Amino acid sequence: MDLKGKDFLTLLDLSTEEIKGLLDLAAELKAKKKQGIPHRLCEGKNIALIFEKTSTRTRCAFEVAASDLGMGSTYLGPTGSQIGIKESIADTARVLAGMYDAIEYRGFGQQIVEELAEYSKVPVYNGLTNEFHPTQILADMLTIQETLGKLQGVHLVFMGDARYNMGRSLMVGCAKLGLHFTACSPEGYFPPEDLTNTCKEIAAETGAVIDFASDPYEAVKDADVIYTDIWVSMGEPEEVWDERIRLMKPYQVNAELMAHAKDSCIFMHCLPSYHDLKTAIGKKVGEKYGMSALEVTDDVFESERSVVFEEAENRMHTIKAVIAATLS
Ligand code: CP
Ligand code: NVA
Repeated sequence: MDLKGKDFLTLLDLSTEEIKGLLDLAAELKAKKKQGIPHRLCEGKNIALIFEKTSTRTRCAFEVAASDLGMGSTYLGPTGSQIGIKESIADTARVLAGMYDAIEYRGFGQQIVEELAEYSKVPVYNGLTNEFHPTQILADMLTIQETLGKLQGVHLVFMGDARYNMGRSLMVGCAKLGLHFTACSPEGYFPPEDLTNTCKEIAAETGAVIDFASDPYEAVKDADVIYTDIWVSMGEPEEVWDERIRLMKPYQVNAELMAHAKDSCIFMHCLPSYHDLKTAIGKKVGEKYGMSALEVTDDVFESERSVVFEEAENRMHTIKAVIAATLS
């Protein structure tokens, strides 16, 4: 694997071998971290972290990973910098590339992170756009590998709105790594056709399977992983909740749905999650629609089949692998 100097914008840009190489490196760096073995592979380097949307996991994963690798980091949040208001993306890219060794960007359209990369002479990493969330997929795949012992042939069913970043990115990751990906969504809420066709072409090479379903109980009957995401993503207007709740309610991951899957089936979620009413949005929406949880019920979220916190921890180990592979 030679990713030195490369951007990390979508998994479409990487070969299957390169993605597997990153997962192996993440596992190695995770083992070192657990054993207290230093791994300051990027000593003296610096990374700029641009967040035009909020974050807990991705920000913390980048900051801890950078620190463990011996790097400095600067967080530029949704407010407080000149980005987008007084300074264009192209100018920002050239300014930051003069001071930093890498730039992470979380924000809106994929074309923004692509433009940043075009104008930056240092590697740019996609920390989530409306369309893709590639660092999340690395963490998900590492978690599946650790929990189920393999990736090839694993059947992952994504429940909910598969048009957005998580549905799309999981489809790409599954295609590249030979999994069986099913998007289980209402009609019209599947990933876009051009991306689906690209993934089917990749699948023909890797042995992956890509299909769509709309009946949740039928879709999960031989699932190894049931994956879901929040029903309204960052940046979407509040008005979409009404329609989204009506359409997505049958796709809620609850005990009855899990009972239709194999006993060995695990539950995954990129987080954050509205699995109870203990958050401001969860409470507001849940009370309005008379629901105690939204995309996943609390009993499933807290069950032994749920690997969501292992998945969250793996964000850090996999992001560390991306930084180390591209900078050292
Ligand atoms: N999964 C994820 O990206 O979480 P954050 O929004 O907290 O970074
Ligand atoms: N689809 C979600 C993912 C959060 C990690 C969002 O974009 O808000």
